[in-house]
Amino acid sequence: MTRAKALLDGLRLPVIAAPMFLVSGPALVIAASRAGVLGTFPALNQRSTEGFRDWLEEIEAGLSTGAAALPYGVNLIVHKTNPRVEADLRVCVEKRVPVIITSLGAVPDLVKAVHSYGGVVLHDVINMRHAAKAIEAGVDGLVLVSAGAGGHAGTNSPFAFVSEVRRIFPQGVIALAGAITTGRHVAAAIAAGADVAYMGTRFIATEEGAAPPAYKQMILDSRISDIVYTPAVSGVHGNFMRDSLVRAGLNPDGPAPEMNMDKKEAKAWRDIWSAGHGVGGIDAVMPTQALVAELGADFDCALGELQRWRAHAPAPAREKVA
Ligand SMILES: Cc1cc2nc3c(=O)[nH]c(=O)nc-3n(C[C@H](O)[C@H](O)[C@H](O)COP(=O)(O)O)c2cc1C
Repeated sequence: MTRAKALLDGLRLPVIAAPMFLVSGPALVIAASRAGVLGTFPALNQRSTEGFRDWLEEIEAGLSTGAAALPYGVNLIVHKTNPRVEADLRVCVEKRVPVIITSLGAVPDLVKAVHSYGGVVLHDVINMRHAAKAIEAGVDGLVLVSAGAGGHAGTNSPFAFVSEVRRIFPQGVIALAGAITTGRHVAAAIAAGADVAYMGTRFIATEEGAAPPAYKQMILDSRISDIVYTPAVSGVHGNFMRDSLVRAGLNPDGPAPEMNMDKKEAKAWRDIWSAGHGVGGIDAVMPTQALVAELGADFDCALGELQRWRAHAPAPAREKVA
């Protein structure tokens, strides 16, 4: 078994609580990893590399169990627009962060640096071209950001995407993302061929999520039809909640407005709230531990139902087919 698969095998539930700008910090990471899924956060949620190091120390302390520490992950944006990437990576190496999730650039040197201390690299992609490039760079796993995901979502069907990537990445870890909201969805992701479900939006509506209360309330009040896929906020297509676009003076039903928000992207994400298609299945803000327990119970129900179908399959007919 690869190191990446062994790490996931140690989870209570095959779920990664995905990194979310302005939402995931130490409280959510610690609560998620303690509950038995993999907690993660973007390094850029801290304003400086020094602050980032402080957060890692806080997380290490929160996850040390006396025996082996529980795993967690950090998201690094590997792009020339992120001047901190090298310094943040050095801190990750020093602190031996168990999982690094890279966005935008899949760089062999970074993979080498993370492997040097036994860490695992997952890279997030929205299409086959980027998946192939990341595999070539030597990543341990891919995050397939499919249609309906929160943040900068892709447009591929998760079913088709996971099958096509599995053909070119038979031994790698595949995390599937896009509106995964319930334990049944987690089971569906595994049944479809993924190793782990990657869930963002559902974890915004947790007590430990750092989003303001009005953001969490909008998640509860929104339905799939309230999610708008637009490049207006950051220049790259992403999913955002309609009411937050309207409040910012944008017309979600008109043509994508010409907005040069690149330099103000952090502010844009603060005022315009991202969420995926899964919002309609979210009815309560919960403590993360209770959420993971609920996901686990729902996951078990789904497995029970799949198992029932196995019993239904008439064995003689199967033999005939074979
Ligand atoms: C508010 C918000 C902020 C996000 N910020 C980041 C980020 O900083 N880095 C990143 O790699 N992905 C980011 N994402 C994407 C998530 O990591 C994940 O791919 C996505 O939420 C999964 O889809 P789901 O929200 O439908 O579960 C963000 C998503 C949301 C909703």
